[in-house]
Amino acid sequence: MTTRTRRPLFPTLTAALLGLALVAAPTTARAADKEKKKDADTPLAKAMEELGDTYKALKKTVKDPAKKEETIKLIDKAYQASVTSKLYAPTMLAKVPEADKAKTLDGYRKMMAGVIAEFAKLEQQVLDGKNDEAAETLKNLKQLEDDGHEKYNP
Ligand code: HEM
Repeated sequence: MTTRTRRPLFPTLTAALLGLALVAAPTTARAADKEKKKDADTPLAKAMEELGDTYKALKKTVKDPAKKEETIKLIDKAYQASVTSKLYAPTMLAKVPEADKAKTLDGYRKMMAGVIAEFAKLEQQVLDGKNDEAAETLKNLKQLEDDGHEKYNP
């Protein structure tokens, strides 16, 4: 009869669980972070989310003259979401020193006004059938989004 030496299961299991925990921890932390951002569901975040969905949809329709009506409807939605966004103050304003608050809010509003102006340009180009130019304008909006978020949603 052969005697098989069995490796005790406990250390192996412990090591496996420890490994899993090490891999899972950063992922869980990131998920919690994301969840925290989502939890801060401010009216501004909701309007921005709407703007984001509209922007994504516009990317799919803007180049196609046959989708003009759909594109125009989406631009109307984008105006609404942008104007709503402009009515609120960004969450980060709470952390801005009192002396800089007014200037920061003005800067935010100015930038959102720029977003609205860009959507107006987009609408004119789509109505004129200048779909390639409209696609370029949409790219400008992406740049505004990136700059705006860097400054006001760091
Ligand atoms: C087409 C342009 C833009 C798009 C598509 C867009 C989209 C978004 C999206 C999807 C979010 C995340 C919302 C959520 O938490 O679920 C967001 C958040 C935010 N965006 Fe924009 N954004 C745009 C332009 C801008 C600009 C120009 C500014 C600043 C002037 C800005 C300021 C912010 C701020 C401050 C938040 C965080 C909300 C808060 O503070 O409560 N965004 N945006």
